Amino acid sequence: EAEAAAVTEEIRALLQQEDAVLVAHYYTDPAIQALAEATGGCVSDSLEMARFGRDHKASTLIVAGVRFMGETAKILSPEKRVLMPTLEATCSLDIGCPAEEFAAFCDQHSDRTVVVYANTSAAVKARADWVVTSSIALDVVRYLKDRGEKLIWAPDKHLGNYVQRETGADMILWDSACIVHDEFKAKALEDLQAVYPEAAVLVHPESPESVVKMADAVGSTSQLIAAAQSLPNPVLIVATDKAIFYKMQQAAPDKLLIEAPTAGNGATCRSCAHCPWMAMNGLYSIRDVLQKGDQEILIDEAVRQQAVRSLQRMLDFRK
Ligand code: 13P
Ligand code: SF4
Repeated sequence: EAEAAAVTEEIRALLQQEDAVLVAHYYTDPAIQALAEATGGCVSDSLEMARFGRDHKASTLIVAGVRFMGETAKILSPEKRVLMPTLEATCSLDIGCPAEEFAAFCDQHSDRTVVVYANTSAAVKARADWVVTSSIALDVVRYLKDRGEKLIWAPDKHLGNYVQRETGADMILWDSACIVHDEFKAKALEDLQAVYPEAAVLVHPESPESVVKMADAVGSTSQLIAAAQSLPNPVLIVATDKAIFYKMQQAAPDKLLIEAPTAGNGATCRSCAHCPWMAMNGLYSIRDVLQKGDQEILIDEAVRQQAVRSLQRMLDFRK
C-alpha cells in the first residue's frame, strides 16, 4: 500500500517533469485508471483514447493499454512522443491479422471497401479504407451499405458477424477472435440468468454470437458503462474484461455486478475475463518508462501517412 502510494507520487512528479499525460483503457489495473483520472489524463474506450491523445496539448502521451492503442495515438500525433508501459502488450486480433496476408486477401476482393477494426497494426490500417472501433462500427457500416458499397471486414469475426446481422451489409469476414471475449459461454450464462432472473446482460460485441443474442445491451466499453447506469435492473451480468468493473461500479454504485461465465461444466478458460496483455500494464512500468523513455512507439512515415487516412475518416465521421 505505502509502496504503491510512493510510486504514484513519483509518477505524478514525472508526468509534470516530462510534460506527459496518461491515457488509459478501462481494462487496465484500477490503480492506473484512478491515476489517469487524478492527473488530468483519461480513462475510456479505444475511440475516446484516440481522440483524447490527439487533442491533448502534452508533448508526451503515456498510453496504458495495448499496442494498437499506442500506434493509433502515434499515427494521429506524429509530433508527440508516445510511450507505453511495455511494447510487448499486443492483442490476439492484431496477431491474427498479419499485414501481408491481409493485403493479399484484399487484393482478391479489390471491388470491396476495406473496413478494419482499430485492434490492428499500423500496416493493416494503411491497407484499409476505414478504421472503426466497436462504438462506431454499426454507424459506419450502415452508412457504407446505404452508399451501395460491399465490404471486407477484419479481423474480429464475432464483431463482424454482429455488424452484419444488425445492418444487413454485404461483408466478407476475416477469421480471427479476441481470446478474452471468445471464452464467454451461452449455456453457463443461461444457468446464471436462472439464478438472477432480475438481471440484465451487458455484452461486448467481440463475444460469440450465442452470447451477444442474450444481451440487453451490446456495445463498446464506454457504451456498456453507460448502459449499466441507465438500465433499471438491480443486477447486471457483464460479458467483457472484468477490469471494467472499477468504473462501471462507480457509474452504477447501487447495482450488483456479476462476471459472465467464461467456462461451463468445470472446463478451464485461457484468459478468464481478463486480457493478459492489458495486465502487463502496471504502476512500476509506467514509472520506469517515464524515467527511461524507452518503450517508445515509432512508425515508418510512409505507413503512417497511409494509415492516418482511414483513421481520420473514422474521427471525421462522428465529430
Ligand atoms: P473498446 O473500443 O470497446 O474499448 O474495445 C477495445 C478492446 O480491445 C476490447 O477488447
Ligand atoms: Fe485484444 Fe481482446 Fe485484449 Fe481487447 S481484450 S486488447 S480485443 S485480446
